[in-house]
Formats: sequence, C-alpha cells, structure tokens
Amino acid sequence: MSWQESYGKKLVKAPEALKHIKNNSRVVAAHALAEPSYLLDEMVVMKEQFRNIEIIHMASRGSGAYCNPGMEPYFHHNSFFTGITTTEPVAEGRADFTPVYFSEIPKLFRTKLPVDVALVMVTPPDENGKVSLGVSVDYSMAAVECADLVIAQVNAQMPYTLGNSRLSVDQIDYFVEHSAPIIEVPVRPLDEISKQIGKNCAELISDGDTLQLGIGTIPDAVLASLKHKKDLGIHSEMISDGVVDLYEAGVITGKRKPDHKDKMVVSFLMGSKKLYDFANQNEEVELYPVDYTNNPVVIAMQDHMVSINTCVQIDLMGQVAAETIGLKQISGVGGQVDFVRGAAMAEHGKAIMALPSTAKGGKISKIVSFLDQGAAVTTNRMDVDYVVTEYGIADLKGHTLRERARALIEVAAPKFRQELMEEYERRFFSKY
Ligand code: COA
Repeated sequence: MSWQESYGKKLVKAPEALKHIKNNSRVVAAHALAEPSYLLDEMVVMKEQFRNIEIIHMASRGSGAYCNPGMEPYFHHNSFFTGITTTEPVAEGRADFTPVYFSEIPKLFRTKLPVDVALVMVTPPDENGKVSLGVSVDYSMAAVECADLVIAQVNAQMPYTLGNSRLSVDQIDYFVEHSAPIIEVPVRPLDEISKQIGKNCAELISDGDTLQLGIGTIPDAVLASLKHKKDLGIHSEMISDGVVDLYEAGVITGKRKPDHKDKMVVSFLMGSKKLYDFANQNEEVELYPVDYTNNPVVIAMQDHMVSINTCVQIDLMGQVAAETIGLKQISGVGGQVDFVRGAAMAEHGKAIMALPSTAKGGKISKIVSFLDQGAAVTTNRMDVDYVVTEYGIADLKGHTLRERARALIEVAAPKFRQELMEEYERRFFSKY
C-alpha cells in the first residue's frame, strides 16, 4: 500500500481516533508548543467515555481543562514540569508531580512507565510520506516508539524540522487534521538588571564556545550581550528567538564545534513565529530526542561547553532551588542538571547560574542563608560552578564553604549583604 493510501485510511475525526483510548490508560502528550491541544480538549469534551486516564506531559501551553475541578473520575494529570495550567492543580492536590531529569524521560517510558497512548502534533506528510515532530522532538519520539496507540494532530502550520525528528506514516495509528498557529512565546523586554547580568555572563563566554541556554528572561539577556563574540555554537535542549538574531548577525556559526559542525543541535523550540519559520526545513537546525541532546556524556563531548541557567534561590553553600518556591512546585528540573553535569565533564566546560539578585521588585533576596522550608535542591552544591548576578560573578567550584559564602554575599544586593554577613559570622566563627 502506498503511504498516500495508508494516510487516507488512518485519517479520521478526533472522536473516532480518541475512542480507541482504553480506561486506565497512561497517555503521554507532547509538550510545550507541540502540545496537541486540540486532541486533549476533545478528550475533555468526550470525558464520559473515559475513566481514570493518566495524562503525562512536561510544560503545557494549552487549556489544561483535564486538570479542572470535577475531572477527577476521568483524568489524572502527572506532571513532569508544571507551568501556567498545571502549577495550581498540583498545589491543590488534583494533579501529581514526578521529579525526573529531562534526559531520562525516554528511558522511563521504555522501562518503569510504559506508555499506552502517545498524543503528538506533526506536520503533514512530505513527498516521501514522512511527517516531522516539528517544534518538539524531546520525549515525543520515545513516546511514539513505546506506545501501543499513536494519535497525531496534523497541523499544517507546524514547521518541518530536520535532524532525527521524522516519523513515517506507518508509525502512527490515527491522523486528525487540525490546523492552528503554533503558540508563540515572545522574548520579554529586557530591563537594566537583566542586561547587566547578560554582560557579566558574557565575560565568561569566549569565541568558539558552545552554548546551552535555559528557560526564562535571563538566557535571553545573555544572548543579547553576545553580539561581539565570534563562532559560537549551539548544543541546547531548547532555543528561543535570540538565537536567530545571533545567527543572522554571523555570531553563531557552529564552525568550531567538535561534532555537528556548522549545525545547531536542540530538542525543542520555544519562541515566536520568527523562530519557527527559521527552523522550517533548515538543515542547520537539527532536532534530536532528549536522551541524545541532554545526555551529559554527549554534552561533555563539546569541549568548550557553557551552560547558562537560572533559578529561584541559592543558599550560602551554593545549593540551587530552581523549580520550587518553598514546597510549591512551579516548574521542574528540565535539562538544568543534565547540562550542568555535561558542562562539568567537558574539557573546558563552564556552568553558569545567572539570576537577578532579588525577586518581587527588590523586596526579597534570591541569595539566602537557607533555602525556603520545603524547597527542592535542583542543582547541588558540588555541581554549582559560577553564579552571576547584576553585581558580578561568584566562582564557587573548588572553593570552601567559607569562600563560597563570601563570594555569594559579594554578588547579593547591597541591602541584604549585612543580614547574610551575620549568618556568615554565626556559621563560620561561632559554634552552631
Ligand atoms: N522567592 C519567591 N518568589 C520568587 C523567587 C524567590 N526567590 N524567585 C522568583 N520568584 C517568583 C517570581 O516572582 C515569579 O512569580 P510570578 O510568576 O508570580 O511573577 C516566578 O517565581 C517565576 O520567576 P521568574 O523570575 O519570572 O522566572 P523565569 O521565567 O525567569 O524562570 C525559573 C525562572 C527558575 C522558574 C526557570 O528558569 C526554571 O523553571 N528553571 C528550571 C528548569 C531549567 O533550568 N531548565 C533548563 C533548561 S530549559
């Protein structure tokens, strides 16, 4: 049978495809901007047909209606990274959270968390009958490979990305065509503090380095401060619009990368239409499954790897809380530790934790004596390397607890330094 005939037979309306999901199934949905929101929302419309469906995904940009009060008999969300629609359901006990390194999710699907159903969003097939997972390959590829049932929303507006991002029509059981714009996450305007943090980070970045950029305003500020650098490379879990600007300015060339020379290697895209158009059919942007991009051993092969991430709080020992505010889960580890570890293993690698010194309009310090009660340590004190704020750079790796505390106090906001110094004196010069 030709792929065209096969596609035609599998092309159905959403209820026809979704009715094949059995009660008590584990459903994995693609995440971020590749979330097949149309399919998830249709499941909610059909809720009476379902009982006890576990829905797993990372960041969500859809309605999250399956987490609403009253959905408990039908759906239960298990979050690997909370966000706009899932933070409150987890906090209120209507959903669960599973701590997991991004790099290990594909292995979990192959071992401890077998997948019954994968819901993904793909491009229409190309002339060879291949669809692309578009803006999010990460764990979607493994979910498709492991699932008993694969249902794809075919979105004509999804960019056709390259790398290891393609599936054949045979790998999908049902196609549901539904075109919708890919949700855009534009870069937030940079304030003076973010710009200064970017400049301080730029001091640690040399020509020819390979960069990973985490999520949030700070990584965008770092990109904006790199216009004078040469031949930077990208090996990152995600990229945003700032990368396109630097590529167009001739700063990102990938020329000096030890592997995937001249190419950007990523696992998902999060930006505006400008980024999605840039990645469409672009051989210089390769998307791979996350157990490749985020594998610390693969990252370590980038000799001059620099990871740039941000966090919520850091204590005087250098312990980083990046995903909780006290007990409240506000995101997840994502690829932060994968890249911090990989950069540490790379010959000339550096791991930067870049953060504004304060939060809540300057009212609270992000550098603290103790993490908030209940906070999870995302990056531990052995792994933390450079901490950068608008006040400078604290070099922690290889330094004693006393040296670390002093270095961190020096980059804290001036109005909190006295309080931190008092804790420093108590901790190191009197008996606790
Ligand atoms: N105490 C209390 N609240 C704090 C705080 C602190 N020390 N630091 C931040 N917050 C609040 C902010 O006020 C904001 O609240 P709001 O949404 O009510 O305005 C919220 O936490 C998010 O802070 P913000 O600075 O806007 O976050 P961001 O978009 O820059 O993201 C992280 C920062 C840490 C949440 C994000 O980078 C993350 O999830 N990191 C972990 C995963 C990761 O690093 N992955 C890397 C590869 S993608």
